[in-house]
Amino acid sequence: METWILDRRDVAAVTALVGRDALMGRVVGRLTEGFADIGHGRRELSPLRGGFTRSEPVPGILEWMPHRDAGDSVTIKTVAYSPGNPTHFSLPTIIGTVARYDDTTGALTALMDGVLLTAIRTGAASAVASRLLARPDSRVLGLIGAGAQAVTQAHALSLVFPLEQVLVWDTDPAHLESFARRAAFTGVPVRVADPARIAAEADIVCTATSVAVGGGPVLPDTGHRAHLHINAVGADLVGKTELPRAWLRRAFTVADHPEQARREGESQQLGPADPVTGLAGLVADPQRARDRRDGLTVFDSTGFALEDALAMEVFLEAAAEHGLGTRMSIEHHPADALDPYALQQTPAAASL
Ligand SMILES: NC(=O)c1ccc[n+]([C@@H]2O[C@H](COP(=O)([O-])OP(=O)(O)OC[C@H]3O[C@@H](n4cnc5c(N)ncnc54)[C@H](O)[C@@H]3O)[C@@H](O)[C@H]2O)c1
Repeated sequence: METWILDRRDVAAVTALVGRDALMGRVVGRLTEGFADIGHGRRELSPLRGGFTRSEPVPGILEWMPHRDAGDSVTIKTVAYSPGNPTHFSLPTIIGTVARYDDTTGALTALMDGVLLTAIRTGAASAVASRLLARPDSRVLGLIGAGAQAVTQAHALSLVFPLEQVLVWDTDPAHLESFARRAAFTGVPVRVADPARIAAEADIVCTATSVAVGGGPVLPDTGHRAHLHINAVGADLVGKTELPRAWLRRAFTVADHPEQARREGESQQLGPADPVTGLAGLVADPQRARDRRDGLTVFDSTGFALEDALAMEVFLEAAAEHGLGTRMSIEHHPADALDPYALQQTPAAASL
């Protein structure tokens, strides 16, 4: 049995051939269907992820994120968060790979890059939540954190709102300075603004920072528009949060995965009695979200493996449409299933 591999050249080719906007659009559509399926009880949320934290030499975490579609497949993303990567190694903060297994035999059926996939599906998840919770005429997007995720947050939201302005802030001047170039393809003008101005002027804010555990909030507890919607993306570690607690306590808080959000998302700041609404239930019953649009709303995004499985499906379908990817026999499936030494050798090895 062969494994279908999409390496970095394949994901680049898929992106170029399908187009960034169409690819993001497909993922937004697929996630919307996936959340609706969960909301209607046709699918289940993924289990909580696990991980190994490290403090040296680059503080961070390596996580495994599983999802099972019984009778079909198991998808597992292994993903590391290493916020020192851009500075020390010129590598992304988020690095990962996504593997898909046959749920019946356990064989590895597909393997692909998880770096672009994570950025796209995280932007797409914010688009799904914002379409429900933000005002449809939202024109000003604020970004706190101008790293990799900020690019796909701006991209996804530019596709579903009539954005006229992006206001951006980052504590690293070089990241702040280069953001306009990285987001130029969205066509939305970008301007630098401090967090207080972003809070005051934005209709939608995305926080996607690498602020340290205990280092938040990344927004001041100052004035904001009454209808502000926030996509809180960066809080995804125990102890790491980005929003002023007072904002969260008076907001209508919606999480992609409420149990995980209470453990490691923005909702860590809430008490057990404070409500955290599941995004899936709102996608299945959108009126409940629309009734909240004139007040402060927060999407607590921690990310889970069904989102990765759905995004992987989109990439694999597009790769199939364009004949991309490599098929490779990685696993040793012996000629005699009961004899591990029944090797299917290469001609060179057989002649030894
Ligand atoms: N919710 C999800 O599904 C999901 C998915 C991917 C990444 N994330 C999280 O999003 C965060 C950002 O990821 P990334 O890939 O963009 O990382 P990145 O390193 O590319 O960007 C993070 C940016 O935040 C900036 N920053 C740090 N502290 C700040 C502060 N106090 N105020 C403003 N800016 C600050 C950094 O200078 C950097 O530019 C990470 O915490 C990551 O774990 C969440």
